[in-house]
This record gives sequence, structure tokens and C-alpha cells, in this order.
Amino acid sequence: LLSLARSSKIMTSQTHRRAFSRLSNIISSFNRSNRLSPIRRLSTSASSDTLPSTFKGLIVEKTRGNPPISEIRDLTPSQLPDFDVTVKVEYSTLNYKDALAITGAPGVVRSYPIVPGIDYAGTVVSDRSGTFEKGTKVILTGHGVGEKYWGGYAEFARAKPSWLVKLPESMTTKQAMSIGTAGFTAMLCINALEKQGLSPKHNFQTKVLVTGASGGVGVTAIALLASLGYRVTASSGRKWTHETLTKLGSKHIIDRFSDEKVRPIDKELWDGVVDSVGGVTLAKAISQCKTNCAVAACGLAGGTSLPTSVFPFILRGVALLGIDSVYYPNAKRDEVWSRIAAKVPWNLFESATTVRRPNELSEMANQLLSGKSEEIIGRTVVDCGAF
Ligand SMILES: NC(=O)c1ccc[n+]([C@@H]2O[C@H](COP(=O)([O-])OP(=O)(O)OC[C@H]3O[C@@H](n4cnc5c(N)ncnc54)[C@H](OP(=O)(O)O)[C@@H]3O)[C@@H](O)[C@H]2O)c1
Repeated sequence: LLSLARSSKIMTSQTHRRAFSRLSNIISSFNRSNRLSPIRRLSTSASSDTLPSTFKGLIVEKTRGNPPISEIRDLTPSQLPDFDVTVKVEYSTLNYKDALAITGAPGVVRSYPIVPGIDYAGTVVSDRSGTFEKGTKVILTGHGVGEKYWGGYAEFARAKPSWLVKLPESMTTKQAMSIGTAGFTAMLCINALEKQGLSPKHNFQTKVLVTGASGGVGVTAIALLASLGYRVTASSGRKWTHETLTKLGSKHIIDRFSDEKVRPIDKELWDGVVDSVGGVTLAKAISQCKTNCAVAACGLAGGTSLPTSVFPFILRGVALLGIDSVYYPNAKRDEVWSRIAAKVPWNLFESATTVRRPNELSEMANQLLSGKSEEIIGRTVVDCGAF
């Protein structure tokens, strides 16, 4: 306005004053309406998501020359990773990988110190990206959380928006974590087998073997398969869990496979297999798979080897399907969670779920890794409101 007035040579001291005063008004009302503030908000949002100055979390730390130690400590918001979404964690779980992380076993944690917990469910406190409204209930599994990035064993966590899935409406955060990574993986195994041709036949005639049956993947696979109409055989090494496995829907229970040597081709028994054990167990399951059927392999609780040969693949057309839940595409996760929400028999599933406090995690982790625990069956939910 000023330059216009000057260049048109109509500027008098009065017009000058008027133009100047108009400009000042425009600038101050622009500031009042806070249109410049997004830049400020972006740079300070980490501290403005109204978190308490300290909160509790379980941290695993490794100092030079010493084995890692885990303990519950006061943490500050500035210690959380600088991702867009801050979540008030309600529940996390104890998975096989978490047990390795807590006990300091190699192979899971990429850098210390870390808050373990590869999955969690809770409520969005703030989201700089604008993807989630404050108060939205969300689930996180995988994406390197609890391995590379700080995870769910704390009262608060931060994540990228693309890692989070909205909680299905019919599910609570506690139910979501009674499924957790292990249960999500069980659903991926079943989906993969069905994509390969597995389908339930009249009167539960389609036979599916579930190995590592009393573990997290195992119990969820049993519950889901039975509810979908499959005839489930559970392979388990812990006798005291048999009643629960039967309640969840197993029609038969067999012992763990312990043969030192496995014949690559054996009697044809299974239309499909969900295996979370690996090693000899996986080799034996492959050897007993029917012609043109498939095995979904997701775990290594019994070992990382695969003592078989090419025969089951080239003489029987058996398909070995590898399952990875960590980097499963986020765009497809809503669908998987919706199927879980619809198909898990929640009233029965409670018998395979225990809720524990964070201060019990260290002891539970050792028990879980022993593979012989007399206390742990199925899924262990961690109540992150009980630090
Ligand atoms: N690929 C993925 O994305 C993905 C996702 C989740 C989990 N996993 C993997 O899947 C496996 C199972 O996870 P989880 O959370 O279900 O663990 P879990 O709760 O510890 O269950 C593992 C089960 O395997 C059986 N088992 C343990 N030690 C064994 C041994 N030495 N020989 C034979 N069987 C043994 C036990 O079942 P019984 O007592 O009934 O025999 C145990 O309950 C782990 O290796 C985990 O890392 C992979």
C-alpha cells in the first residue's frame, strides 16, 4: 500500500499515516489469528503434548563389558523417540522376542538403552502429523519397535503414524494385546494357508496341525482355526496345558516331535500346518504334509535349523510359506485385525490369557524362554497402567 501510494505520487502526510495505520492493523490481526504459529508449534510440539515431567518405564541398558540389565525407572518425555504420535500405553504383551530383549539375549535389541515391548495398544495423546485425533485408540505391532526403537513397556510411547492401526470398534485395548504380535502372526499364517488353497470342509474334515501349541502363536492359531471350522491337532510338550488347548478347540493333542532324525517324506496327515517352533518340528511337519498342501512357518522356539531335503517339495508339491509380521504392509493390517476381532471366541480365549504387572516381566521372561513353564500359557498381557 505504501509503495503504491508513493509510486502514484498521491502520498500526503495524511495518506501516509492512514496507509501505515492500515498496514499495522493487518499485521497485528494476522498475528492474533495465529496463522504464523504452525511453524512454532511444529518445532516445540514434542514438549507440548502435555505429558507429565516424568513417567515410568522398563529400560534395558548395557554398559561396556557387562551383560544388559533391565529395571523400572523414571523416564522423561525428551527421552522418547522424536516421532509424530504420542500414545498413552494401556497394555503391552510378553512375546518371545521381548523375553530375549529383557534377559539381554543377543539377536533382538539393536541399540541400548532401550524400552522393550514389540507391541502395545493405547490412546493417542497428540499427533503432529494430524493423522490421528487425540483420544483415538490404536494398536502397534512390529516395525522394529522394541528392537530398534523404544517400545511398549512404559506409560507413554512415540510412533510414526504409518505404524499404527486404529483399534477395531468391537475390541478393547486389553483384548487387542491378548492377541498382540503372536496372535496377529497366527492370523497371517492362516490367511497365507487359505490363499494357498486351505479351506474348511463340512464337519471339521480339514486337518490342521499347530506346533508350539501352548505358546502365544499356538493358542491364537488354535482358537482361530477352530472357530473357522478346521479340525485342529495341537503339538505340545506341556501336559498341564492340554485342558486349555482342548477348550480352545483342539480335537487331538500330540507330544512335541523329538526325533533326532526326520525322514523327509512320512505318512500324509495334514492339510495345513502352522509352525512356530522350527528345527526338527518343522521338518517333521513338512514330512507329514499331504500332497499339494502348505506349511506356514513363523518361528524358531525349537531351533533355527531345517533338517529336511528337497523331497517333500518336489515329490509332494508341499509349499513352505514364510511369515513375517514385523514388516507386513500397514495398508493391509486393518483387514487382518477386523478378521481377528470377528473370529476370536473371546469368552474361551480368556482362559489362554494372563494379565501381569510390569514388575513381573523379568521373572516371566525367563520362564517363557525355558519352554517348560508351569505358569505361562498362551498370551501374557502387560498392564502398563500398573507401573
Ligand atoms: N515371524 C514373525 O513375524 C513372528 C511373530 C511372532 C512370533 N514369532 C516367533 O514364533 C515363535 C513363537 O512365539 P510365541 O510368542 O508364540 O512364543 P511362546 O509363547 O514362547 O511359544 C513358543 C512355544 O513353542 C514351544 N516350545 C518352546 N521351546 C521349545 C522347544 N525347545 N522345542 C519344541 N517346542 C518348544 C512351547 O509350546 P508347547 O509347550 O506347547 O510345546 C512354547 O509355548 C518364536 O520363535 C517367535 O520369535 C515370529
